[in-house]
Amino acid sequence: MHTATIINGKEVAAQLRRDIAGMVRARAEQGRMCPGLAVILVGEDAASKVYVRSKIKACEEAGFLSRSFRLAADTSQQVLLALIDELNEDPQIHGILVQLPLPDHMHVPAVVERIVPAKDVDGFHPYNLGRLAAKSPILRPCTPYGCMRLLDAYGISPMGKNAVIVGASNIVGRPAALELLLRGATVTVCHVKTRDLQAELARADIVLVAIGSPGFIKAEWLKPGATVIDVGINRLASGKLVGDVDFESARDKVAAITPVPGGVGPMTIACLLQNTLEACEALDV
Ligand code: GUN
Repeated sequence: MHTATIINGKEVAAQLRRDIAGMVRARAEQGRMCPGLAVILVGEDAASKVYVRSKIKACEEAGFLSRSFRLAADTSQQVLLALIDELNEDPQIHGILVQLPLPDHMHVPAVVERIVPAKDVDGFHPYNLGRLAAKSPILRPCTPYGCMRLLDAYGISPMGKNAVIVGASNIVGRPAALELLLRGATVTVCHVKTRDLQAELARADIVLVAIGSPGFIKAEWLKPGATVIDVGINRLASGKLVGDVDFESARDKVAAITPVPGGVGPMTIACLLQNTLEACEALDV
């Protein structure tokens, strides 16, 4: 029976992290600063705590300076903005990451826009998104960037292909559309209002899904030979982690697919390190 190539994000990410650690050592030998990342977590979101811990651990393993800030859920936006102002001025800090989601009383655009674009290692600031839209990216959103690096690592070119994105979030779907457009794909973005998702998927050579709904995308909907990038990370009641695509049935139909866990997730963190190193190199001239 036909089985898909399983895209090993864990391995590609580990290689990228080794390369980054090597560049940090080379900087140290030249007497240059190590990259510094500040991570801010507001509140007690369980998934966010796990992600923040992994980001800090990855920083330390790559030889970065990491500083972590835990703020209570009822912290005022003013206090958060004052912390960002301080970090914007701190010469040891090259990247500032505010983990999302934020508590409801905070206004995400106001917080994101307070970070100076040169330290916006999440790539969420309108300046950085605008640069990506205008075909000259500087710091780019980590998850879509990680997806593109996975395609590159497996020699899968989006050029001229029909790419269908499912989910139009600010963090993944929208910037992923810009990344795929940049690489020459014909891009369709589907979302909750899309009338006929199955008809869109039937034409898709590349499918990128980020909706947060376990096993939502069925193998029957996919075009034989497609490449599937599954950004979903969903924890079932049993404790098992699964993606947004029904992996076990899809793997018999498509050409290549990312697993969950071990697909896109590790690439997000590796690209955060890449962005922080790039921010450091741009700031520490
Ligand atoms: N929440 C979910 N994904 C992300 C991410 O990539 N960055 C931040 N800051 N928050 C997130």
